[in-house]
Amino acid sequence: MALLVWSRKRSSSIASHAFVSALLFLILQLSTTCEAQLSSKFYDKTCPNALSVIKSSIRAAVSRERRMAASLIRLHFHDCFVKGCDASILLDDSRTINSEKNALANKNSARGYEVIEAAKAKVEKICPGVVSCADILAVAAREASAAASGPSWTVKLGRRDSTSAYPNVADSDLPRFTDSLSTLISRFSGKGLSGRDMVALSGSHTIGQAQCFTFRDRIYNGTDINASFARNRRRHCPANANQGNDKLAPLELVTPNSFDNNYFKNLIQKKGLLESDQVLFSGGSTDSIVWEYSKTPATFRSDFASAMIRMGDIEPLTGSAGQIRRICSAVN
Ligand code: HEM
Ligand SMILES: *[C@@H]1O[C@H](CO)[C@@H](O)[C@H](O)[C@H]1NC(C)=O
Ligand SMILES: *[C@@H]1O[C@H](CO)[C@@H](O)[C@H](O)[C@H]1NC(C)=O
Repeated sequence: MALLVWSRKRSSSIASHAFVSALLFLILQLSTTCEAQLSSKFYDKTCPNALSVIKSSIRAAVSRERRMAASLIRLHFHDCFVKGCDASILLDDSRTINSEKNALANKNSARGYEVIEAAKAKVEKICPGVVSCADILAVAAREASAAASGPSWTVKLGRRDSTSAYPNVADSDLPRFTDSLSTLISRFSGKGLSGRDMVALSGSHTIGQAQCFTFRDRIYNGTDINASFARNRRRHCPANANQGNDKLAPLELVTPNSFDNNYFKNLIQKKGLLESDQVLFSGGSTDSIVWEYSKTPATFRSDFASAMIRMGDIEPLTGSAGQIRRICSAVN
């Protein structure tokens, strides 16, 4: 307003030029702050059917194989913890890419890549070059949870895809099954997530499977473990480190395909499969949260949903950063 009055008084071309520049600056400022934020409406105009196409693709994959629900939730987690939710985990080795798929926590373990690629192909058919692989992964995790009768939530969108992979960051930043409680807490806090978020997110170990090598030491040598549970698990996981490393066990024994709060009930009975599960209930600061979730499944469900949204917010590429990949396994 002041500018307007001033420009009328002077009526000089310099003043009106200054006014137009100021206005342009304001508009630019507004549009960049909008772009930097994820929004659930991001594709409403550019690809209104994206979410329903992804949904039917993921639901079909989960009904073909129930475990896929678990695998897709984990894939989104392993994407977000490595330089943000940018689909860097989906890139294959190439001349320019050193894939995260070979990182310690992912190799012969992370799975579901082909399900995301198939959903991407379906979305590309209806809106080529519009929807990022990172967003497809975020929506897939939500659909996976819902398909396993877990909670659902509104997914924020507008992430773009990385042009690089970061295997060294995957090795350093992804949590390990041998981590202590304090190490786990600091890893999550390094990504802007609280201890409570961490306990809620670990609750996704209510579904899915783990390989023998990830829990062998605990079931043979662990002290903070229910003896009959350990004995039972040993029958399917040999002590010899050269045998049966990839033998699978459900992370939650009672209802391994259903997203409920049995994981927390198990922890209280010292029947966590991984050491990193049991440390959440071993006399430390997170015991009270485990108690709470074991008693109030509704609190677990709503905390899980909000924690997934916060996890999906980790360092997204927005605006003109990164790219929208044509296929998820390679850069354009
Ligand atoms: C707190 C630190 C965590 C550690 C140390 C950890 C570690 C592991 C390990 C070792 C496995 C088994 C992998 C294998 O044997 O191949 C696993 C599976 C799984 N993790 Fe975690 N995890 C953690 C947190 C999370 C979080 C935050 C999520 C999701 C939000 C998650 C979701 C899953 C799921 C769903 C599976 C089963 C995957 C499948 O069956 O394909 N985990 N995790
Ligand atoms: C149990 O611990 C001992 C001593 O650290 C180790 O040598 C052995 O390999 C462990 N056993 C298993 C099955 O992990
Ligand atoms: C271990 O689990 C068994 C079987 O569920 C149960 O009967 C037993 O009471 C548990 N032991 C302890 C020490 O909690």
